[in-house]
Amino acid sequence: MSTTIIRRVLKNETRQRLEFLNLTPRIEEVVSESGIGEGTVMVQSLHSTAATILNEWQEALLDDLRRMMEAAVPAGGGWRHDDPRYSDCTRANAVSHLRAMLLGPGVMLPVVDGRLVRGTWQSIILAEMDGPRTCSVSVQVMGVEQPRVRASEEWEAWFRRSLENPPEIPWESAARITDEERERIRASIQEFQLGEQSEGRHLRQAAREYARRSGDAAYARGTELFIREEQGHAALLGRFMDLAGIARVRHTWVDAVFRHVRKLAGLETSICVLLTAELIAKVYYPALAAATGCPALRAICARISKDEGSHVQFHCERLAMMRARRAPVRTCVALALQRLLLAGAAAVVWFHHEPVLRVTHSSMADYWRCCQLEFRAAFHSGGRRPVLAESN
Ligand SMILES: [Fe+2]
Ligand SMILES: [Fe+2]
Repeated sequence: MSTTIIRRVLKNETRQRLEFLNLTPRIEEVVSESGIGEGTVMVQSLHSTAATILNEWQEALLDDLRRMMEAAVPAGGGWRHDDPRYSDCTRANAVSHLRAMLLGPGVMLPVVDGRLVRGTWQSIILAEMDGPRTCSVSVQVMGVEQPRVRASEEWEAWFRRSLENPPEIPWESAARITDEERERIRASIQEFQLGEQSEGRHLRQAAREYARRSGDAAYARGTELFIREEQGHAALLGRFMDLAGIARVRHTWVDAVFRHVRKLAGLETSICVLLTAELIAKVYYPALAAATGCPALRAICARISKDEGSHVQFHCERLAMMRARRAPVRTCVALALQRLLLAGAAAVVWFHHEPVLRVTHSSMADYWRCCQLEFRAAFHSGGRRPVLAESN
């Protein structure tokens, strides 16, 4: 996740020599418009005679602050900055500098969940010490962007574009795979090719039902295109297997269990089971790519890995929407069950595909760490909470 930096300069018209302005709403607006979810905001006066502070915006307290400034740094205090024998400044504004120095030029606050973190009585206050003038304040928001939930129409367009841009595969290299490479990947690629190949009847039906209930017709269309993309993966792997002399299979017990579990309940369960497969696929395909030196297989794996990344996001966002209005404890239980499902599925995949997974993972523990990382990344980037409202 890359860091984003947004900078704005707020211009403030002041009318008095010593004046306070509450900048909080404008800074909250900058933070909100930045789209940054987690980070910091730095607010800094761009003048040596103005300060920014974090304190209570209360008239009586601001009067006290004014009196304190005047008492601590009185006008006519024989300041050298105002004396032409020592200074070339013609503004006679030593008190403005000194008062600004007492308060400091800036404040820095955390941004969490896209909002400024501040106490109930804390406001960001500009302390103008040398008005009237246009007093400028720099606001810099820095951090990682708030995960955005795409509308179903955006997903539909995304899958459509993806389907219109098939990968370029150097197919001629498939036949050059060595016997040793073929034996290493044979059983593994057979099972994954079968897994990618699904008509998705149950998922289609559940998505249509959900779309009808929620009024989000584009979700059903997006799901349709998602299924086509998965079928495209099966077609790529199948063509490679044909050229490389690896027979296609029609049944494995792992695939049968996976298909059965997916059909047990409604859309949410189907998505959870699919998501488990997608997360494992994100760990598996780079290993399959590394298991042979075949350019065709590498290109296929690169494309599938990329697609699986968007599938994970597609599913996580929908789960977040479905769970948005539920009690947090129910979501926590659902996440714990999903983690359990991932652990079980990851273990089965390890024992069935160890020769391929061993190419990039030194041990089962190392492989499991990668699966967990994928899980955490998925639910951090879109599955934990929806930022935009449900598209209906
Ligand atoms: Fe796939
Ligand atoms: Fe997928």
